Amino acid sequence: MDVGRRLSLARVPAVAALMVMLSLSSSFCVSSSAARAVARPGAAEQLQRHPVVLIPGAGGNQLEARLTEGYEPSSLVCRVWPLVRGRGGWFRLWFDPSVLVAPLTRCFAERMTLSYDADADDYRNAPGVETRVSDFGSTSTLRGDLDPNLKLLTGYMNTLASTLEEAGYEEGRDLFGAPYDFRYGLAGPGHPSQVGSAYLQRLRLLVESACAASGGRPAILVAHSLGGLFALQLLARSPPQWRAAHVRRLVTLSTPWGGSVQEMLTFASGNTLGVPFVDPSLIRDEQRTAESNLWLLPTPSVFGNTTLVLSRAHNRSYSAKNMTQFLRDIGFEEGVEPYRARIRPLVEALPEPGVPLTCLVGTGVDTVESLVYGDRGFDEAPEKVVYGDGDGTVNLASLIGPIKAWSDSPAQVVEVVELPKVSHSGMLSDKSALEQIIRIIDSINLNATSYHHSS
Ligand SMILES: *[C@@H]1O[C@H](CO)[C@@H](O)[C@H](O)[C@H]1NC(C)=O
Ligand SMILES: *[C@@H]1O[C@H](CO)[C@@H](O)[C@H](O)[C@H]1NC(C)=O
Ligand SMILES: *[C@@H]1O[C@H](CO)[C@@H](O)[C@H](O)[C@H]1NC(C)=O
Ligand SMILES: *[C@@H]1O[C@H](CO)[C@@H](O)[C@H](O)[C@H]1NC(C)=O
Repeated sequence: MDVGRRLSLARVPAVAALMVMLSLSSSFCVSSSAARAVARPGAAEQLQRHPVVLIPGAGGNQLEARLTEGYEPSSLVCRVWPLVRGRGGWFRLWFDPSVLVAPLTRCFAERMTLSYDADADDYRNAPGVETRVSDFGSTSTLRGDLDPNLKLLTGYMNTLASTLEEAGYEEGRDLFGAPYDFRYGLAGPGHPSQVGSAYLQRLRLLVESACAASGGRPAILVAHSLGGLFALQLLARSPPQWRAAHVRRLVTLSTPWGGSVQEMLTFASGNTLGVPFVDPSLIRDEQRTAESNLWLLPTPSVFGNTTLVLSRAHNRSYSAKNMTQFLRDIGFEEGVEPYRARIRPLVEALPEPGVPLTCLVGTGVDTVESLVYGDRGFDEAPEKVVYGDGDGTVNLASLIGPIKAWSDSPAQVVEVVELPKVSHSGMLSDKSALEQIIRIIDSINLNATSYHHSS
């Protein structure tokens, strides 16, 4: 591959670069391996690349569950399924294609459901359901192992990870993965978020160790969709010195900085991800409970007072500023308080990343821009859906709106790469998108090498 050749150019001034690097300690993280690396033959090669940490979008990694005594199955089927479980009773919760069979969809939904505990002001799993993300640090659970014909596979990073490997990256050496429980989110200041905060802490440590293992080179964070929002929060919640020493660049793929209108459709009607025979209301009720879905609702700072949804039954129109009214009217009162107290303050203050940023955005794909519900309200499918520009999932305004604001800040380096006709998940598999991602990573690596060489 041409890309591999271009990357290999970066190998030439290796030792010189290393020496310069060690003296520039302030802009590099503490490298535990640097001293050893100098002595090791061939070690120079591994110092050429900034390590890459892949952060998936919602649904882009696997999730495991096990059931404990507190679990109250809604049916006998849910009590026994899945028949085969691993050690400790763990089994794959997300994603297991057998949930497409009707009675199992119900079991799946009840296990995926979160609830908001008002006393604790935090989200938690359903009673008797324990969940975990295995293999943190590795890209293994970011690579779906499903039937490639299944549309559901599309959020996984298989192709991207192997493309990086073809370009010289190696799993565990300079390529890492940061899976997470994507049902949970984060909250604005003063509100606990146990699962989300624990993830940011794990991610922080992973970035530090990736950096240390690469001779002190700061990492490149490559985040898809919701992963970009987590990455932004990690950076915003870290001191500037930490950012400068550990993160060379944030590369976001299809990140919905201001949420998406389609999310309102998910809340009102359910989103079966294009699988026709799944009961949408079952899925809808489960999807409503995910805190991360509240996070992805369209934000006032991006969508302003544009009418996004109209309901004839309620004789009301809703803009992003009317989200609590919308949640009430769709019959999801439980979501109102967490949205108002936790999510709204989080999305209103969208801090700049504080590290160089490259945003890849797909455009020119029909994307839900507004919805009209008829006389029967939200219990029926919308009678009219208006489409506009975006990546098919996220509206263009959300993909680029906040970036424009950041680019006004003199300290913030911002690059936007527009990819016409690349869809939200096509970003992880389309040839044109993968070429761009490699080009960007390539140029960061080349740039760093020549910069230090000449300095
Ligand atoms: C949006 O609302 C604000 C105040 O609520 C108002 O000042 C402004 O004119 C409105 N903008 C549009 C485009 O309607
Ligand atoms: C709908 O609301 C408008 C004002 O927003 C009002 O003028 C109208 O009478 C209402 N129609 C019904 C049927 O309630
Ligand atoms: C939506 O928000 C606007 C501005 O805050 C307000 O004037 C309007 O009454 C709200 N509409 C509904 C349906 O809540
Ligand atoms: C290349 O290096 C220069 C100088 O450090 C920096 O300003 C620029 O942003 C870098 N470009 C990339 C793609 O990293």
